Amino acid sequence: MKHFLQFKDLDAEELAYLFARTRVIKERFKRYEPYHPLSDRTLVMIFEKASTRTRLSFEAGMHQLGGSAIYLNTRDSQLGRGEPVEDAAQVISRMCDLVMIRTFEQSIIERFAAHSRVPVINGLTNEYHPCQILADIFTFIEHRGDIRGRVVAWIGDANNMLYTWLQAAELLGFTVQVSSPVGYQVDPALAGSSAACMRRFDRPIDAARGADLVTTDVWTSMGFESENEARRRAFADWQVNEELMAAADPQALFMHCLPAHRGEEVQAEVIDGPRSVVWDEAENRLHVQKALMEYLLRGRL
Ligand code: CP
Ligand code: NVA
Repeated sequence: MKHFLQFKDLDAEELAYLFARTRVIKERFKRYEPYHPLSDRTLVMIFEKASTRTRLSFEAGMHQLGGSAIYLNTRDSQLGRGEPVEDAAQVISRMCDLVMIRTFEQSIIERFAAHSRVPVINGLTNEYHPCQILADIFTFIEHRGDIRGRVVAWIGDANNMLYTWLQAAELLGFTVQVSSPVGYQVDPALAGSSAACMRRFDRPIDAARGADLVTTDVWTSMGFESENEARRRAFADWQVNEELMAAADPQALFMHCLPAHRGEEVQAEVIDGPRSVVWDEAENRLHVQKALMEYLLRGRL
């Protein structure tokens, strides 16, 4: 049994398989061909934080593969009333085939997985967002080909997205040029060996220079709302704008996992402009996660 709790739970060869499989599944979907490899299978989705894309893509994806999906959140289940994670994992995993969790600390999802009888997928934690990076890399490959040897510019907070990009860079052989404000920079302990794939820059424009992909995220991630005001001040100069995009490679793409705040981390002209692929990126959550669920439940087909 395999879990997907962080990006490096898959190796480079499995990732290549998943991206190839995603292409097949996406093409079938676009041709309206029914494909039900997960009939009678049930996915439980547990949300301790808000979501639009993650819920929709997992729920729709599971239905499209012939299975069903059940949504649980902390507000109206026993999960918010102090039932131990280990007990919840024992019970939930006896009644379903697959679990997706969006929560706070990575340790919560790890404790759940350690007591689960079925595969567990990380739908975002404070530390990682591996399903999003699967979609982002698949999107890059669709538009620009292999990501090996390429340069990704990360402008902004050292958050769950950045740590996942770093793990992907180590596995797939690309570089991440990072610029974050003082106080919000990469924690070397969390980056681990993937820090070797990172180049750090004080000024955001220097991180963008020559990049094949420029990407950013909100100044304040979910769970950190109490830091909002301090972050607004600290991140004021960390915006992806047209000047910054002009420093990147002429073919550079722009990505954002969404939801975005125009006028904060990204200028409207960039996210709504010709180099932005954010809608493909969001749609691809559906296709990569269908390939992932098929792989975790059925192996290679
Ligand atoms: N990008 C992403 O995970 O979006 P949601 O928070 O809407 O799920
Ligand atoms: N870094 C953001 C991503 C949202 C999809 C957050 O954790 O809130």
